[in-house]
Amino acid sequence: MAGNVDHHNRKITYLRVSVTDRCNLRCMYCMPVKDLKLLNHGDILSYEEILKVLQAAAEIGIEKVRLTGGEPLVRRHFMHLVKSVCQVSGFKDVSITTNGVHLKEKAQELFDAGVHRINVSLDTLNPVKYAKIAGRDCFRDAWEGLQEAEAVGFSPIKVNVVAIRGMNDDELLEFARLSVRKPYHIRFIEYMPIGHDSRWKAEKYLSSDEIKSELETLGPLQKVLRSSLDGPAERYRFESARGEIGFISGLSHHFCPACNRLRLTADGKLRPCLFTDDELDIKTPLRNGCSREDLKRLFQEAIVRKPRQHPAKIRGKGAGRRPMSAIGG
Ligand code: 5AD
Ligand code: SF4
Repeated sequence: MAGNVDHHNRKITYLRVSVTDRCNLRCMYCMPVKDLKLLNHGDILSYEEILKVLQAAAEIGIEKVRLTGGEPLVRRHFMHLVKSVCQVSGFKDVSITTNGVHLKEKAQELFDAGVHRINVSLDTLNPVKYAKIAGRDCFRDAWEGLQEAEAVGFSPIKVNVVAIRGMNDDELLEFARLSVRKPYHIRFIEYMPIGHDSRWKAEKYLSSDEIKSELETLGPLQKVLRSSLDGPAERYRFESARGEIGFISGLSHHFCPACNRLRLTADGKLRPCLFTDDELDIKTPLRNGCSREDLKRLFQEAIVRKPRQHPAKIRGKGAGRRPMSAIGG
């Protein structure tokens, strides 16, 4: 068995790295209802530690890395990390997920460092609603960040829209039109029950099938062939559109059989599955001076511990101890 193939014959080539659990927004679907417990600074992996982990990851066959948060752009000197990660040999692709609020200032520097693919979270095109969903009045900053990413030349630019009934279901067609006019990949993400204290309710859940039916009232959606860098999104486009439409159906169509990823939390835990609490501590061995080979073995252990399928159900309660803000999507 190759070092990065799991028990269900999936090749694990993708690592999502949460560099901080802090965020300048408070999205209602991401943060817990009650007190948000933040990690202590000393519990967060230093950039040097993250790089050691990433070098081991590259050697076991990780090819694609995504830096997430919380919000990665709020961590101090984040650009130092980005530059070093882009230089680790073995990675074919380094990308970032951001809420876009600080993107206007950072887009060029990110691009020059070697990050050319970006995901921006934006759940509404209405500034008043944005303040409600994200808990902060920052629509203009996020929108300008997105425009700047386009001006600088990021491609693809993916816009993550968590679809929530009663919240942004009246904007589905507006987002669809945006994919025609702009070269953005608008990705509708099914609202998932993550974290025991999440606000998720079955009534707020909107399935990809429902969204797709509504979009098709605008015109036929043509299927787009998937590429090797693709994640779980089903891709489509409207005729003569500059951008695309994607559906990420975490609940309605389990994408577990195609799961190729591991997650590293900001406090140094390797997480085999988004929905289950099983985690491998990598920080303690790292701080005890373990070798590159030891780190590679820990990766391999996390890979063999990947479950065949996640247990989240449409009528379940929030899965897992950590809120999404501490996992990074
Ligand atoms: N369900 C679905 N997507 C979520 N995200 C955060 N919380 C949830 C949730 N409960 C998304 C964000 C961001 C990505 C990293 O994860 O919108 O784009
Ligand atoms: Fe912050 Fe992203 Fe979570 Fe919103 S979804 S609170 S922007 S980490």
